[in-house]
Amino acid sequence: MKHPIKNYFKISAIAITLILIVNSPSGAAEREGRRFNPGSFEEPARAEWQKVEEVIKAIDLREGQSIADIGGGSGYFSRPFAKAVGPTGVVYCCDIATEPLEYLQTTALEQNLLNIVTVFAAYDRPMLPPNSLDILFFCNTNHHLDNRVDYYKNLIPLLRKGGKLVVVDWKKEQQKVGPPHSHCVAKSVVIEEMKQAGWELIQEETFLPYQYFLVFEPVIKR
Ligand SMILES: C[S@@+](CC[C@H](N)C(=O)[O-])C[C@H]1O[C@@H](n2cnc3c(N)ncnc32)[C@H](O)[C@@H]1O
Repeated sequence: MKHPIKNYFKISAIAITLILIVNSPSGAAEREGRRFNPGSFEEPARAEWQKVEEVIKAIDLREGQSIADIGGGSGYFSRPFAKAVGPTGVVYCCDIATEPLEYLQTTALEQNLLNIVTVFAAYDRPMLPPNSLDILFFCNTNHHLDNRVDYYKNLIPLLRKGGKLVVVDWKKEQQKVGPPHSHCVAKSVVIEEMKQAGWELIQEETFLPYQYFLVFEPVIKR
């Protein structure tokens, strides 16, 4: 006959092992038996046309600044932003999906980028406090947003004095990369919607082959 105390210890050991596996730092995706695939977000060929360092120069991102990468996904921009703002600055990567944020946490830690804050955003707001940002940045995200005019309007109070908003998104054309052009929002539509939301266009860059690049400031200065 088996000893009941021995069985008790066996069951406890199994329970503790299960608790350790479930709470391991590898995240929800792994717990559920799947791994986030950063796929096209992080593919090496992207560097050639995404020109991240030129984007950073064009938005004049400086040490000590605070930037929000809204719909930042796997952090393709957040990581280089973190290097640009340095240890006295901060990058908020806001997304409604947890898997890309977990991927970013892992890669940021690997690269010792401790000034990245991952933020689980709401559909209608990035979940950041007022007066917290110098730059709001969107890449390939604005075509995902519902009620864009309201969304953009609600961003104005998040900026500090002199703050700006940057939109980089797919040109609404048949292209070699990017989603079907029917999914994309035309540049003219973004400019019009931003105007309705209280923003004015102050800069446009044309060095990205597949995306438009627009910079806005609030009409009523902060
Ligand atoms: C095409 S990906 C772009 C990712 C990243 N900006 C990049 O350029 O690699 C769009 C991202 O927007 C996120 N997203 C969609 N709707 C959103 C919303 N309402 N608020 C914040 N993020 C959103 C998605 O989860 C996804 O990670």
